[in-house]
Amino acid sequence: MKLTDAQLAEFDRTGYLFIPECFSREEAAVLRHAADEVYALDREEIWRETTGAPRTAFAAHTYNEAFRRLGAHPRLIEPVEQLLGGRLYMHQFKVNAKAAFEGEVWQWHQDYGTWKRDDDMPEPKAMNISVFLDEVTACNGPLMIIPGSHKVGVLEAGHDLETTSYPLWTLDKATVRRLADEGGILAPTGPAGSLLMFHCNLVHASPPNISPYGRTIVYLSLCEVNNHIRKFERKEWIAHRDFTPIDALPDDCLQELVAAQAQAAE
Ligand code: SIN
Ligand code: MN
Repeated sequence: MKLTDAQLAEFDRTGYLFIPECFSREEAAVLRHAADEVYALDREEIWRETTGAPRTAFAAHTYNEAFRRLGAHPRLIEPVEQLLGGRLYMHQFKVNAKAAFEGEVWQWHQDYGTWKRDDDMPEPKAMNISVFLDEVTACNGPLMIIPGSHKVGVLEAGHDLETTSYPLWTLDKATVRRLADEGGILAPTGPAGSLLMFHCNLVHASPPNISPYGRTIVYLSLCEVNNHIRKFERKEWIAHRDFTPIDALPDDCLQELVAAQAQAAE
């Protein structure tokens, strides 16, 4: 999948692109089913809320076939190669649950702020690209972004080890207010299969999910291969150390699983 000149210009201006229904309902359902299988596992890569509900499954592309295929999907790899101007490796892969009633907050942050401080990634030549596995609505804890905030560089941040189970470099209220007064706040919403990509310096957060509807989103953080991390202090399944360039799979790689699951159900 190649981005048009208009999309490239839009990304440069706002720091994000939203493509509703980029994946079919069936492809999204295969991945949603895979997320349930992954959350049922007892593995150290799967982090939970204090209630025990799943929060994040790290590196699921290394132990689940559907996510392995998504991690090399051409609808994700090709546009990010185009935007970053080089080949890519997977810096981080997470399936974020934001469970019904129990999904907790993600405080305001920039992802590259964490990758720079914790992993010594040299430049912001990395990108988040995500696929909604449930419908994301105004009510179930959507991702909130501040358009244009990718232009401000890496902001001062504090290391939040308290408010959630996952340590994060988070921004103070005055900074968020200033940026929001300039750029506003948006929360892209849409059906399962929708795709959101955003610059690694874009300021974002998400509120708790007190609705009865889950909000599963899978995030790939893809980094240009020469920009690989230099510091190896976090777990290897949080900040990966395999810098091999990803070869994109055929476009029907998930559709094959749809067909296989339909056959198995007969
Ligand atoms: C993130 O910022 O990395 C995840 C936020 C979310 O899933 O809501
Ligand atoms: Mn983030």
